[in-house]
Amino acid sequence: MKNKILITLTIITMISQTTPAQETKTRIIHDPHSFADPAIASVKHLDLTLNVDFDKKILTGKASWDIDNRLLETIKEVRNTPPFISFDTRGLTITKVTLNVTELVAEWSLDEPVPFLGSRLKVNITPTTTRINIYYTTSAEADAVQWLSPEQTAGKVYPFLFTQSQAILARTWIPCQDSPGIRFTYNADVTVPKHLLALMSAQNPTVKNDQGKYHFIMSKPIPSYLMALAVGDIVFKPIGKRTGVYAEPVTVEKAAYEFFDMENMLLTAEKLYGPYVWDRYDVIVLPPSFPFGGMENPMLTFATPTILAGDRSLTSLVAHELAHSWSGNLVTNATWNDFWMNEGFTVYFERRIMEALYGKDFADMQAVQGREDLVQTIEELGKDSPDTKLKLALENRDPDDGMNDIAYEKGYSLLRLIENTIGREKFDAFLKQYFAEHSFQVITTEEFLVEFNAKIIQGDTSISNKINLNKWIYEPGLPDNSPVIISERFNKVDEKVKLFLSGTSPDSIDVKGFTTDEWIRFLSKLPAGMSESQMKKLDDVFHFTKSGNSEILGIWFERAITAKYTPAYGALEDFLIQVGRRKFLKPLYSEMAKTPDGMQMAKKIYSKARQNYHSVSRNTIDEILKMNEQ
Ligand code: BES
Ligand code: ZN
Repeated sequence: MKNKILITLTIITMISQTTPAQETKTRIIHDPHSFADPAIASVKHLDLTLNVDFDKKILTGKASWDIDNRLLETIKEVRNTPPFISFDTRGLTITKVTLNVTELVAEWSLDEPVPFLGSRLKVNITPTTTRINIYYTTSAEADAVQWLSPEQTAGKVYPFLFTQSQAILARTWIPCQDSPGIRFTYNADVTVPKHLLALMSAQNPTVKNDQGKYHFIMSKPIPSYLMALAVGDIVFKPIGKRTGVYAEPVTVEKAAYEFFDMENMLLTAEKLYGPYVWDRYDVIVLPPSFPFGGMENPMLTFATPTILAGDRSLTSLVAHELAHSWSGNLVTNATWNDFWMNEGFTVYFERRIMEALYGKDFADMQAVQGREDLVQTIEELGKDSPDTKLKLALENRDPDDGMNDIAYEKGYSLLRLIENTIGREKFDAFLKQYFAEHSFQVITTEEFLVEFNAKIIQGDTSISNKINLNKWIYEPGLPDNSPVIISERFNKVDEKVKLFLSGTSPDSIDVKGFTTDEWIRFLSKLPAGMSESQMKKLDDVFHFTKSGNSEILGIWFERAITAKYTPAYGALEDFLIQVGRRKFLKPLYSEMAKTPDGMQMAKKIYSKARQNYHSVSRNTIDEILKMNEQ
């Protein structure tokens, strides 16, 4: 019987915000990354009370979950006696569990932990149980949470905390049903030290209060991977009517300058694919250890400060996270195996926003760069690797292992191919309807295929053969029919790289008007075998080592490591100690790890830098440097 229970079935209840009268359909989806068994009971609302203790580095909480109790429907095939509801937890200490608003003492138990997934919390219920109250504390090592000392912040005076829940880390700070198919609304009361502001993926305060107590409301149902909390010396600056930025006081002006176009991005996005349903769209700029570029926490995108280039050149990241307000947060991948349904659609949407605002030549530079990254990722993984399929097989694995450029850029290529094949107008109409019809629901890759066949292909084999969706989705590598995108601006850059490589001095190469994307192209086209003197010539004229642009630094340092260009090493070390964004760390540490000397340098730097990184980045770099024993 135990085995039977272990088969996790996720029932997806389709909730419609706009038409509550709509019939709720129930589907069963297998989510290999959650212990939740919604055939018995699933959560629908959370009342969370949380106390943030910076000294002990723990969160103490009470999570009260209202549930949809399906015991009466399923009791005939009594699957376990006595029946219980299952939650995901990892590293949590559960101190007490009670039932209903009356808080009757509950019978509960915590299973042995399973790698990546953590421990299933079982709470016995009866057909009349409506609410489960879980009292708990997090461990100081909770993987979602990063506790920063004042020195690790921009202001250097107050501590800071942020969480990162995607993909399956929400369970390390909230006992929850941690599956993208289970949605819930939430209210939260969070207590933090005075002088600090708390923010969540919800309606947020804009100013601090004397009590350090903040109340949050998320009135739209969201999945657990979008639960988020940030606490620090944070201030707010509005940008437009519905948009604004949060950041530490020393960063907020720079952030507001950088993101001045956010309101336009929002309006542009709405024009493309329909109304923005989350009320406000704000961005918080976090300390540099944030492991991602951005995270689409509803109402409040979390972002790395490494996009503050000072010239607004890295803001496609904001377009990306904003686009997730439709693709991902409204229409959600059913399981992490369908991750491309979140990210591929979002990259496509992001580039449409950028094209509408800044022109096709601009968006196409990013599409071409994306393609180069894709080709490189496929090379690294191997063109036959199952991880290069759009539909992933992440069972029994940490989902994080399979989340790479494939979902983003192979996904984008497929959607661009569809656009080229059926025409933009038709595809836009399809997408607009897709977002409207699947709002607040999950989508599987297979459901997308069925819908696309019914609405677009309609038996026309000339279209289906031209696209060949099945090959794109279920086969590895990059299909031959992937669209070739040409960027005239990049072609001009390539000519300049050739000039340099054939001996022309950098100061007689005309780089006037180069944007960040063109510099990235320039640097990425430098061959691996650059000599130290070639590197020096470039650096003397273009001052890459001193660049304030993280994207330019990232590639430059990679080249510097390969060429053993030592004048850049000091800046490289500073960068690696400061910045915890995995996208930059991974290639730099990997490049160093290729030679014995480099490996030594990498380990030396990492011994200082590791404490500054979030667990997501630490795990990746531990693996590269094989320092797991730490
Ligand atoms: N949702 C992702 C970040 C993520 C993915 C977190 C998988 C955990 C697991 C976010 O929207 C994203 O894609 N961020 C990118 C930015 C981007 C512009 C492609 C990043 O962080 O680099
Ligand atoms: Zn994304």
